[in-house]
Amino acid sequence: MKHKNTIKSRYDDLGGSDYDMRYTEEQLAKYELIMDELPEANLMLDNGCGTGLLFRFIESSLVGLDLSSELLRTARERVNDVQYLVQGDSEYLPFRDDVFDAVVSVTVVQNLMKPERLPIESARVSKPGSNVIISSLKRVYEKVEDITSIVECDYLMLNRVFTDENINDWITVSTKKQ
Ligand SMILES: C[S@@+](CC[C@H](N)C(=O)[O-])C[C@H]1O[C@@H](n2cnc3c(N)ncnc32)[C@H](O)[C@@H]1O
Repeated sequence: MKHKNTIKSRYDDLGGSDYDMRYTEEQLAKYELIMDELPEANLMLDNGCGTGLLFRFIESSLVGLDLSSELLRTARERVNDVQYLVQGDSEYLPFRDDVFDAVVSVTVVQNLMKPERLPIESARVSKPGSNVIISSLKRVYEKVEDITSIVECDYLMLNRVFTDENINDWITVSTKKQ
């Protein structure tokens, strides 16, 4: 079983600049696909934000949450005055119910000890009717059903899955049920 401290250390040891060097291009290609799925939001959560590569594409207020203090150190250099950072755990989000207009979680779920908690918690903190976007590595979830079966929980309705061959993730787009 994956241990949370091991995951945190792995990202802390990698550090923000090495993370960006290795993964920026790959992550930007994923963001390009999800942008159209993010309607005007007042407040968005980037759940597992890493170094905050997504932040510059988001105009609304945003909270970035991540486990890794080292990646958050780099994210701190990217925030503007309506973007905030929180160190926390995607399995147990430190937010009240129904507060975010959109939740995005790019390439995070495969790291979790209890992956099924990511859609549940993302839905809990979202307002009813808002979009929840969750992507996962294809090399971990080999079949698209491996991830859709996790995302399709009691609280989310799955609307769309991006399966583009040149993208390393399955990208699911869901709506929080009313
Ligand atoms: C592949 S990176 C993706 C980062 C970012 N979403 C991006 O697009 O670049 C995975 C991220 O998940 C974070 N992570 C892993 N387990 C976590 C947990 N339990 N809670 C919050 N973040 C976690 C890691 O620290 C890392 O930043």
